[in-house]
Parts: sequence; structure tokens; C-alpha cells
Amino acid sequence: MEKLLEVNNLEIQFKSQKNIVYAVNGLCFNVYEKEILGIIGESGCGKTVTCRSILKLNNSYEEKGNIKFNGNEISNLEQKDLNKIRGNKIAMIFQNPSSALNPVITIGRQLIEVIKLHQRVTDEEAKENGIALIKKMGIPDPDAKMKEYPHQQSGGINQRIMISMALSCNPELIIADEPTASLDVTIQNQILEIFKELKTKLSIIFVTHDLGIIKEIADRVLIMYQGMLMEEGKVDNIFNNPLHPYTKALMASVPLLNDQKIILKGEPLSNFTKPEGCPFASRCPEIIGDICHNKIPEIITNKNTVRCHIYSSGGN
Ligand SMILES: Nc1ncnc2c1ncn2[C@@H]1O[C@H](COP(=O)(O)OP(=O)(O)OP(=O)(O)O)[C@@H](O)[C@H]1O
Ligand code: SF4
Ligand SMILES: [Mg+2]
Repeated sequence: MEKLLEVNNLEIQFKSQKNIVYAVNGLCFNVYEKEILGIIGESGCGKTVTCRSILKLNNSYEEKGNIKFNGNEISNLEQKDLNKIRGNKIAMIFQNPSSALNPVITIGRQLIEVIKLHQRVTDEEAKENGIALIKKMGIPDPDAKMKEYPHQQSGGINQRIMISMALSCNPELIIADEPTASLDVTIQNQILEIFKELKTKLSIIFVTHDLGIIKEIADRVLIMYQGMLMEEGKVDNIFNNPLHPYTKALMASVPLLNDQKIILKGEPLSNFTKPEGCPFASRCPEIIGDICHNKIPEIITNKNTVRCHIYSSGGN
């Protein structure tokens, strides 16, 4: 499989009052063509800022690392060059569709604007394309829908509109940050079906708190903790044979029913300091010694890719 996106040694820091927030600390991962990469991890571990950094959307204090798209470095691009990629080759879908859409402009007008931004077409052609797109999303009576406003729709319909907008320019990569988190289970399943079908044509980064969703739709999964990769691999391998103690803890945790946040025993460390050892050391049931606190484990790739001293020579 060809690599579409390569993220290497990504570091993201923010300044908050007197502190520096170390949000992402040397994160590495790839996205291959026509796959869904699931990203999972507790609240605050850096999933959203990682997604946003791919399109330079963070208002960060410091951002370092290499990001290659189709083999070309994009982390150092000027905003105008990045704009050629944003929405054209890489599109983003957010958690709350209703707030991402403009409440006072009809759905049709918003779709037409987005289509015209990326394609040289007339209003009439853009309208036809828009109707075809929302029809593909299974929205009933698309002609009438174009004349309506976002506030008249359910969250599920609005999310389908957002997906239609993202698809309007035939992107190669869709970054979806918890796109189903605000939807009820039936609608969620319908949207997941749409994503499953999409991956036959493009690649998707799918951020979620829900291991069940990962199992259902992702090909591979990246498990993050405090801005670092803990484990990455094929979904079947990770579910059948999790290696990292954090992955095992995650599998044993029970998602809350209301907002699907992950609950684990203990608190993550503050991210006001840069990790000097394994960030999971304060909660790890398999800790092997001081090395866990004092040295950041190397990334080892065997069956899965894992960052833990148990699997690196330093710990044996
Ligand atoms: N603009 C900002 N200024 C300061 N800190 C920020 C900013 N944006 C994000 N952070 C911090 O960066 C860290 C990572 O945030 P991020 O939103 O990526 O987490 P997340 O994994 O997406 O969490 P959730 O699952 O709750 O969406 C958090 O500690 C957050 O407080
Ligand atoms: S490096 Fe040590 S503390 Fe971290 S997960 Fe592995 S065993 Fe646990
Ligand atoms: Mg987030």
C-alpha cells in the first residue's frame, strides 16, 4: 500500500497564561491510500490538534515536525500554497455539524459556494452537483433540502451535508474529528456506513473515543497518550493481541454512555511539562522500573508498532 500522509516527530505547543502546554510530543504515524486510520485516546491527548496541524489550523506557540502528503513536504508551505491543498486534496469534518454550517444561509447556497470555490462551474452546474452529492448521501428530496436552512435539519442531516461539502472537491484524504459524537446511535450507524463506502475511493483519518467504532470501520488504529504514539497497527492485531499496557487498559475501560469519553484509573500527568519518560508511567500496571520514568521508550515495530520499554532493548 502507498503512503498518502506521513507525519514524523510532530511537536505542538501552546502558551496558556504562564505555562507552555506540551500538546503533542514527537508523534509519528502514516496514512495509506484507501484506508481508514482510527485515532483514539483520552480527552486532551492531542487528537484534535494533530488533525488541525496537518492543515496548519492551530494557533500554536510552537509547531515542529515533518508532514508529507503524496511524498511532498507540506509542513513548511505558505498559507496560499496550503490553501490549494485544503479543501481540494484534504478536507476536514468536525464534531458538531450544526455549528460548522452558517445558520442564516440555505443549505443549497452553502453547498454551491463551496463547490464554486474549488471548481470552475456556473451557479447552475454547482447546484446540480450539490443536489447529486446530497442525493448520494441518502438525503430524501434533495431539491427541497437545498432551499432549507441548517437549523431546520437534524444533526444527522447536517453531518451528511458537511460530508457532501467535504466530498465536493474529490479529496484524497478526509480528516474526520469525532464526526458522529453528537449523533444518536441509529444516525451514527448510517454515517459510519457512508464512511465505509468512502474508503473505497479515498483515505480517512477518523478520530473517536469509541473502540467499537474503531473495530467496525477502521483498518488500522493509532492509540495516543499525552501527545505520543503508544501503539499503532492493524485493527485485528490490536484487538486480538494488544501489546502496550495502555492499549490493554483502554480495552478494559468502559466508555460512558452519554459522551463516550474513556475512563481509566488515575489521572494523566499535567502537560505543562515535557515528558521525560514514558507518559503512562504514573498509571501503568506493568511498570518495569525507573527507566519508565526516566527514559522515553523508543518506537519498536514488530507485529504492531509500540512505544514501551517492555518491548525495547532498554527494558530487557
Ligand atoms: N488553543 C489552545 N491553547 C492552549 N492549549 C490548547 C489549545 N488547543 C489545545 N490545547 C491543549 O492541547 C491539548 C490537546 O488538546 P486536543 O484538543 O487536541 O485534545 P483531544 O485529544 O482532541 O481531546 P478531546 O478528546 O476532548 O477532543 C489539551 O491539553 C488542550 O488543553
Ligand atoms: S514504558 Fe514502562 S510505564 Fe510505559 S507502558 Fe511500558 S512498562 Fe508501562
Ligand atoms: Mg478533540
